[in-house]
Amino acid sequence: MNLKDKIRVIEDFPKEGISFKDITTLLQDGKAYKEAIDLCIKELEGKEFDIIVAPEARGFLVGAPLAYATNKGFVPVRKPGKLPYETIKYEYELEYGMDALEIHKDAVKSGQKVIIVDDLLATGGTTLSTIKLVEKLGAEVVGVLFLIELTFLDGRNTLKDYNVMSLIKY
Ligand code: PRP
Repeated sequence: MNLKDKIRVIEDFPKEGISFKDITTLLQDGKAYKEAIDLCIKELEGKEFDIIVAPEARGFLVGAPLAYATNKGFVPVRKPGKLPYETIKYEYELEYGMDALEIHKDAVKSGQKVIIVDDLLATGGTTLSTIKLVEKLGAEVVGVLFLIELTFLDGRNTLKDYNVMSLIKY
């Protein structure tokens, strides 16, 4: 199956000039969703890791089934104010203004090996922020895995110190 064919591309969403990769069409096709997750599992084969961390919201759709399939725990990284227990926060710059992500301060332990998972790598800002949170808690990021990579945005360069894996490239 060509998984790229299952992704719907929507021009000028959410704003002009953006060619949005809509994974809902892949997710609603049971065989395609399973194949995508199975390919992610293959990417992780032979890698030693303790836990999967994923940023909201679409990262959960890849990270949670992967955690189940690999028998590992799952940790959500969320926008501020969503996590109920004590958190640490990482603020980062957007084109206009600032954004932030949070993680529970006891979500990963010092020395744990972490795989970060998301649906899409664009500029790499979201993933780098997630990495900072994980590292602040003393854990080690041993790989970052994406369903989709927008190669023309060169997120790989932002993440050059890390092992970047992706299934579908544009
Ligand atoms: C999208 C996507 C990644 C991020 C990639 O999430 O799911 O998390 O953008 O962009 P970057 O590499 O430039 O940081 P979005 O912020 O749209 O949130 P959502 O998953 O909640 O829709």
